[in-house]
This record gives sequence, structure tokens and C-alpha cells, in this order.
Amino acid sequence: MHKIVIKGGLPLNGEVQISGAKNAVLPLLFATLLSAGQSEICNVPDLRDIDTALSLLKILGAPTARAEDCCQVDARTIQSVEAPYDLVRTMRASVLVLGPLLARCGHARVSLPGGCAIGARPIDQHLKGFEALGARITLEHGYVEARAERLRGAHIIFDMPTVGGTENLLMATALAEGESIIENAAREPEIVQLAEALISMGAKIEGAGTARIHIEGVSSLQPLKISVMPDRIEAGTFMIAAAMTRGNVLVRGARQRDQEALLKKMTEAGAHIDATQDGLRVIGPDRLMPVDIRTSAFPGFPTDMQAQFMAMMSLADGTSRVSENVFENRFMHVCELQRLGADISIDGHSATIHGVKQLHGAPVMATDLRASACLILAGLAAENTTEVSRIYHLDRGYERIEAKLAKLGACIARVPE
Ligand code: EPZ
Repeated sequence: MHKIVIKGGLPLNGEVQISGAKNAVLPLLFATLLSAGQSEICNVPDLRDIDTALSLLKILGAPTARAEDCCQVDARTIQSVEAPYDLVRTMRASVLVLGPLLARCGHARVSLPGGCAIGARPIDQHLKGFEALGARITLEHGYVEARAERLRGAHIIFDMPTVGGTENLLMATALAEGESIIENAAREPEIVQLAEALISMGAKIEGAGTARIHIEGVSSLQPLKISVMPDRIEAGTFMIAAAMTRGNVLVRGARQRDQEALLKKMTEAGAHIDATQDGLRVIGPDRLMPVDIRTSAFPGFPTDMQAQFMAMMSLADGTSRVSENVFENRFMHVCELQRLGADISIDGHSATIHGVKQLHGAPVMATDLRASACLILAGLAAENTTEVSRIYHLDRGYERIEAKLAKLGACIARVPE
């Protein structure tokens, strides 16, 4: 077990290269199961969740290999359609094998992912979508069993925009017989890249990135070859790091179109942001201004940036309000920020942050991926030393974050706990 130790109070300056997007790579890796061929995905970050996804592909009978930042997947034959509990419980995105296995093999058996730190995270919308396509779904002994001779196109209307649900149904309908419509679809950039990938494999998809996606099923798909989009959440995390430390950082690879809602709120908070052809440059203000945010599905303010933004608001000159509308338990970073001197109160889905002049270093504990990032950011701005433990959460979604931050001038190290 390791922890990250930060000596805070130093401005971040220079430039940082953003890695490939974790939440784009995961569906792309599972999309390779749709083709009886050898696929390659490049610009893949070195993250625990990617290792877990590659292990799952091997369990299903699709050998994988990694060469530098590229992953090769050989899905010519699939030997198993079962995603086991001990793997799914470590990474909920494993449920994204349901759509490809059902479409390719007519059968899938995936452990129910169960809840996680930030919420119950059911998959009822995924399952309703598969049933609309003609699949027979049974739930027993903690597993979802899905069967269908051939999926038939259908008109699917989600109760709420679901990223995973949209991804699972995009992959299933790509090989279903006839036309499908997905209404109230999620619009995240990662959905757009998945649709682009499927189209490059021969799928017929229109409207990805909007709430209404039209799919014309085809009989088979070619292997995938693609380079992954930059990680907009990693980019946003580094942008806030610059804004909180009065820094000046070029976040290479950050794309303005992926982060409009965040950029607007950061500008309101006083950060100066320039879009360049290499990425986004962020200059932190001497004084941060209070800003209210309400998380929602894309293009709204991303829930995955809520904790990081709250860390920044804990130093603003005034009172801010954060409303977390996507997940039911995504304020676990609050009590850890309070240990650093933040003045925050919670009322249900809302938090009120009274900005303080200074945060003070202390030992804190990470509880989930984005809460870990929030505590790193707070430690960078706090005076004295902050120690963040349980950083295995962090390694799920950030590639060598302490090395990237150190290169920007942070006094930060990963040490044995
Ligand atoms: C994806 O999770 C991301 N994970 C999450 O990022 C992200 O927070 C989330 O989308 C929202 O943007 C990956 O892409 C691997 P949802 P996902 O289905 O697909 C409810 C991170 O930090 N819902 O869009 O699981 C659900 O409970 C992670 O990188 C149902 O009720 O999220 C939630 O309230 C955390 N029934 C809301 O919809 C369903 O069948 C949005 O969830 C599906 C979802």
C-alpha cells in the first residue's frame, strides 16, 4: 500500500500531456468482441481499470497484448460468455460486455456489479433495452443471464440518460436485425467516439452525441483500429490544479468542445483560459470567486468533476453551492476536505461551501476515484504537508499523476504507507 505526500503552496507552471480517456477505452475494448478479428486500440493509458478489462477479455477467450500505448485484442473466437463476480466487482464497467456478447454469441452471463462507493448504480435501463431487442433476461445467484437467438431492432427510450446503457445498447443494436432508435441517449464525447469506432467497423449509426440515435443493424463487423480521445476528466483535473495554485499550465490535448460547462464555471471563478491548437492554457487568479454548480448529464457540468471543483471552491472568496444530481452518494470527499480546514456543510444532494483563506495540510483518506483527485488538489493548495492514503482508488483513473504534477513544480511523492 502506498500514500501520496504533498508539500503544498507551490504554483504549478509548465505543460502536461493528457493521457487517453479511461471512459472511452473501456467500451472500445469491449466493442472488439463484436468482430471475429484482430483489433488494435492506441493511446491507451496505463491504468488499473484497463488491466482489469484486458483480464476480462482473456477470460472470455480473446487474447490481448500491449505494445507501448497500444492494446491488441484477438476476438476471432470467444470461448466463454461469463464475466465472473470477482472481476466485475472490481470494475463495474465490465457490464459493458453484455451488449457485445449478446449480439455476437446470443448469450451472456455477467455478475451483477452491485453498488459502489458513490451509489447503487443499477443497470435496469441496460436490461430493459436488451429485452426490447428480444433478449430473455434472468437474474439468479447474483448473475444476469441474457439469451437471444438474434436481436431484433427496437425503439428504446431510457428513463434517464445513461452512459453505460447507451454504450451497451449501441453495441447490441449494431448487430441486431433491422432498425433501432435510442431515445434519451447519453451525449458524452465517449459515446461519440464509440459510435465512430463502430461505424469504422461497418456499423450504420446516425445521431451519436444527440439524445436520439438511429442504428441500422448489419450482419457482421470488421475489426477495430482506433486511437483513443484525450481524457477530459484528467484534463479538467489538471486545469483546476493550475487555477487553485495561481499557476500557469498548458494542458496538452485538452479539447474545448469536451469541457464547455466546466470552462464556463472556471472562468466565472476567475481562471483565465486560452484555447490553443495544442490544448487549453489555464492561468490561476490571485483570488478565486465563488460559483454554484449543478451536475447533470453531458453537456451539463460533469459529475466526475464535482469533487475537484468543490476543492477549488473551498478557497473561493465567498459562498458556493454544489448540487450533485447524478449519483446519490458523491460527497464522501467533504469530510476529508474538512480535515484540511474547508468549511462545507451538506444538506441531502446539496453542499454549501464557505471559502476559507487557507487550507492546512493533514493526513486524509481517499474513498473513490474522483474524491482522491480532489484531495490531491486540496493538498497542492494547502500549506504544510498533506498525506493521501488509499490511493489505489486514484490509480484506477489517473496515469502517473504524481509524476505529471511534479513536472509542473509540485512537491509530491508516492511513498510506502
Ligand atoms: C459512467 O458511469 C462513467 N463510467 C462514470 O465515471 C460517470 O460518472 C457516469 O458515466 C456519469 O457520467 C464509465 O464510463 C466507465 P450512468 P455509468 O449509467 O455508465 C442511473 C469515473 O469517475 N442509472 O450514466 O455507470 C445511475 O444510477 C466514473 O470515471 C440507472 O438508474 O453512469 C446514475 O444515477 C464514475 N439505471 C445515472 O443513471 C441504469 O440502468 C447515470 O449513470 C443506468 C444508470
